[in-house]
Amino acid sequence: MDNIEKSLKRASIRDQWIFGERMNRIGDPFRWVDGDQLPQLQGLNGGLAFLQYLAMSGEIYEAPDVIKTKDHKEVLINIKERLIKAFEYFCPFLDIDEISFQKYIDSTASVKQQDYCAIKTYCKDLSGHNINHLDIGPGLGANVIYSHLGFDSCYYSVEAYPASYRVQQDFFKFISESKGNYLDLVECDTFDLEIQKINEELNNSSKYKIKHVPSWYFNHVKKESIDLVTATWVLNEVMPAGIVWLLYNVNNSLKNGGYVYIRDSYKRKPHRHNVDYDNVLEKLGFNIVTKMNVRNRVDMHGIPRIYQKNSNLVLDFDEFFDDCFGKYAVTSHGGQYVQNLESNEK
Ligand SMILES: C[S@@+](CC[C@H](N)C(=O)[O-])C[C@H]1O[C@@H](n2cnc3c(N)ncnc32)[C@H](O)[C@@H]1O
Repeated sequence: MDNIEKSLKRASIRDQWIFGERMNRIGDPFRWVDGDQLPQLQGLNGGLAFLQYLAMSGEIYEAPDVIKTKDHKEVLINIKERLIKAFEYFCPFLDIDEISFQKYIDSTASVKQQDYCAIKTYCKDLSGHNINHLDIGPGLGANVIYSHLGFDSCYYSVEAYPASYRVQQDFFKFISESKGNYLDLVECDTFDLEIQKINEELNNSSKYKIKHVPSWYFNHVKKESIDLVTATWVLNEVMPAGIVWLLYNVNNSLKNGGYVYIRDSYKRKPHRHNVDYDNVLEKLGFNIVTKMNVRNRVDMHGIPRIYQKNSNLVLDFDEFFDDCFGKYAVTSHGGQYVQNLESNEK
């Protein structure tokens, strides 16, 4: 078992995910069904894992005029340059054109540029400097490029899936260029740091520009400390316990006035969960800022929506789970084995 899995196991015992209601009824918030279906993802690291995650984005659409910021071209060039540098860092012995990888660099750069442009255009109260940006399910982790560039952020990467966490560790080391401004909570666990010390580094130290947070530590991110949460192609892929865990922690960690940026197909995938998360955010007191008027995979890859928090509601995870699924719902077995959903009883 590697250090990421050890850290997960410790947290599962500490926070009782493997006992009682949490195990038997609610289930595991740290699963990624899509990843589990791909044995090719397992066990890779270094250059191979980098290429695999880079190549997860292959489509290219021109940024819609409505979000084209003054610096949109410059941002695109900067992101591409950084990705090319990353390619040379991970695979110096390969030629981008010979292995036909330029299209993945162009695609990844274009979606990151568009996320930056949409956030800049619509999040009017968001400062361009020194923000705390928390990204859920970052894949390779390339959002950190626009985040540092456009918002001079401290970038929090929240990830649950070991193969993804592993590639992000390598990518963030490349981005931080060994300057020691990268905090990895799995490393803190490996060094057996006490929880108090981990919380101190996570929430009170200003020396980090990247904070890598396994999702089982999401509830340790200080309440109302985050200015911007992004979730692109993630919330529709998690299990019932996962969607509740993520929304619960988003609500608690985001500042009042902070923003949530979501980009995905705006459809729920079969046999994951049935939570309309956009609607839940509105019920929790978030105001919709925009739902972009674009077609998925015609105008853009995904449909961006932005919400602004406008409440001081503090949630309890177990009560919130019951609010989302019903008191008697059994979702722990996943997929087709979900039972007693409130909507089914009516
Ligand atoms: C389809 S990828 C999207 C990657 C990236 N956000 C993008 O837009 O390219 C889904 C990401 O969510 C992560 N993920 C899956 N299940 C998760 C969970 N339960 N909690 C947190 N992250 C999760 C995956 O490991 C992966 O990094």
